This record gives sequence, C-alpha cells and structure tokens, in this order.
Amino acid sequence: PTALAGRHFLKELDFTAPEFFGLLELAAELKAAKRAGTEHRRLRGRNIALIFEKTSTRTRCAFEVAAADQGASTTYLDPSGSQMGHKESVKDTARVLGRMYDGIEYRGDSQAKVEELAAYAGVPVYNGLTDDWHPTQMLADVLTMTEHSTRPLTDIAFAYLGDARFNMGNSYLVTAALLGMDVRIVAPKSYWPAREIVDRARELATSSGARITLTEDVAEGVAGADFVATDVWVSMGEPKDVWAERIKALAPYAVTMDVLRATGNPDVRFMHCLPAFHDLGTQVGQDIFAAHGLTSLEVTDEVFESAHSVVFDEAENRMHTIKAVLVATLA
Ligand code: CP
Ligand code: NVA
Repeated sequence: PTALAGRHFLKELDFTAPEFFGLLELAAELKAAKRAGTEHRRLRGRNIALIFEKTSTRTRCAFEVAAADQGASTTYLDPSGSQMGHKESVKDTARVLGRMYDGIEYRGDSQAKVEELAAYAGVPVYNGLTDDWHPTQMLADVLTMTEHSTRPLTDIAFAYLGDARFNMGNSYLVTAALLGMDVRIVAPKSYWPAREIVDRARELATSSGARITLTEDVAEGVAGADFVATDVWVSMGEPKDVWAERIKALAPYAVTMDVLRATGNPDVRFMHCLPAFHDLGTQVGQDIFAAHGLTSLEVTDEVFESAHSVVFDEAENRMHTIKAVLVATLA
C-alpha cells in the first residue's frame, strides 16, 4: 500500500479499515515469501532507530529481524542508553534522529511522547507500546485471528478478560470497532476502558457494524467467542504494590479451562500478547508470587499449554506485521 508511504504508526485510530486490512494483506504476503525463500529486500540502505524506554523481547526482536530480512539496519537505544529523557528533550532527540534515520520506533509510557517524536522527526515514527495503545500488537493479533478462523473477520467474536484500562484493552476495543468485529470487554467496571475511548469505539461501530459489549459477567462475555484473550494484571511501569488489589479484583476473570468451556465453542483459541504469568511453579515471577501471596494468575498453565493456545503464532506474527509496517511506510 503505497498510500502509507511516509506515514507514522502511532495508534489504530489514525487508520481507516482499508488501510489496516492493506497492512494485514502485506504481512501475509511477506510471511509467505519468507517461508518460500522468495522475499525481496525492499529496504536496502534504510536505517531505523529503536528507542526503548521500557524493556521488550518481542517488539525489539521483531523490528530487528524484520529490518534485517529487508536489508535495513537498526540501532537499539536501551532504557538508559540515550540522552533522551535525561539530558535531551524529546523534541531535540526527534530532530537529531530524523537527520540520520529513515524511521524511528519508540516504546515508553506516554502517548504524548511518541506523538511529539512524530511531530518533529520528519520521518515515520512507530509506536512500539505506550500506556495507552499497542498498535503493532493489534496487527499481529488480527492476523493470527484470521489465520485461525475460517470465517470472515466481521463474523469473528473475541473476548478480552482482565485489566482493560491499559494499552491492550484500549487497543482491542478500538481495533474491533474499526474493523467491524464482535468484541467483548469482560472485567469489573472499574477496569473498563476510559469513557472517551468507549464512546469513540461506539461511534466507529455505527459505520463498521462492530458489536461492542462491556460486561462484568464472564459467562455472558465469553458465550460463543472464537477467541479469548488476556494480558498481565500489572503492566510495565506500574508500582508493585498494586498486585494485591489486582488479584482481588481480577481473579474471577482469570482464563481457566472453565472459561474456555463457557464459550460453548470446542475450537475456541486462547491469545495473549506475552509476556504472561501462567505457572505459579516456575522460577519466573516466583519472587512476585511469594511477596504478594499470589494464588491466581491471568491464565492457568493448563490453558496456556493447551491445544487452544495460539500465543506463539501471535508472537511470530509480531515480526511479519512489523515488517509490513516498515515496508509500507519506507519502501
Ligand atoms: N507483546 C510484546 O509487546 O512483547 P514485548 O514486551 O516482549 O515486546
Ligand atoms: N499491558 C502490558 C503489555 C505488554 C506487552 C504492559 O504494558 O506491560
């Protein structure tokens, strides 16, 4: 989609449904080409800066591998490895990097920062996750849903359980609204997305045909769902002392086998952007589990390791979809 040449990728709401579908089609083509060994390097000579003010495995690696596959170079700036945020403003950093790089990825807390980078960089800026949105994750998730469904996207129903006030909940709601899907946000009311976001989603739904449900009732929320998704209960950047309150509020929304059965769909698939807490017996997170008397995680190990789980397809698709964003905006 040459229409996206030079564009930023900051949040889903900046795109039309055809633009979003165009990126998904391109991602599917690039994925097939890589598998067939016929990929063309369309980004030779391009240089991409990757600013990470928060840690990452998937997003960073996806950008690096996608760029390398396409012949572009990357520079990784870790949470403490640049002057930005310490000695230099976002605006100045944007103008410096914009003189050297053809594109800039940014992951951090505030959406305002990635928008400011975009305003001053003079080159495409990509949101690799902020507190508000995780748009590259949405491309991967929707691609994964289409791969695991025989039905058209507009017939797909998915339920998101857990903390929906943050990046993943917000992004799922607006993406479904934009693309005309059936989305259910299943969480205690105080964990639903902010009013403005819900209003915007409902407005989009009137033209896209999306069905939007916000409910506290798990059985109602997951009935008939093709996909059940969740995310960590405590996100990056949040203080550790919120764990106790989160477990208390969200334990009834943990994705268990009973929740999958409640969909009534034997082929239901489980999704998670990862990283996930799914095994109370593992070393990972042991300190947190012990310190907070954690007895419930967002998903059980049984679900995570089951045949329902498509989380690693989802993770792989981060790379193919991020590659599509790079090719569409820079080639
Ligand atoms: N899903 C996701 O964004 O993973 P990382 O935090 O590892 O990049
Ligand atoms: N909500 C999570 C998503 C991680 C990919 C976080 O912000 O930490």
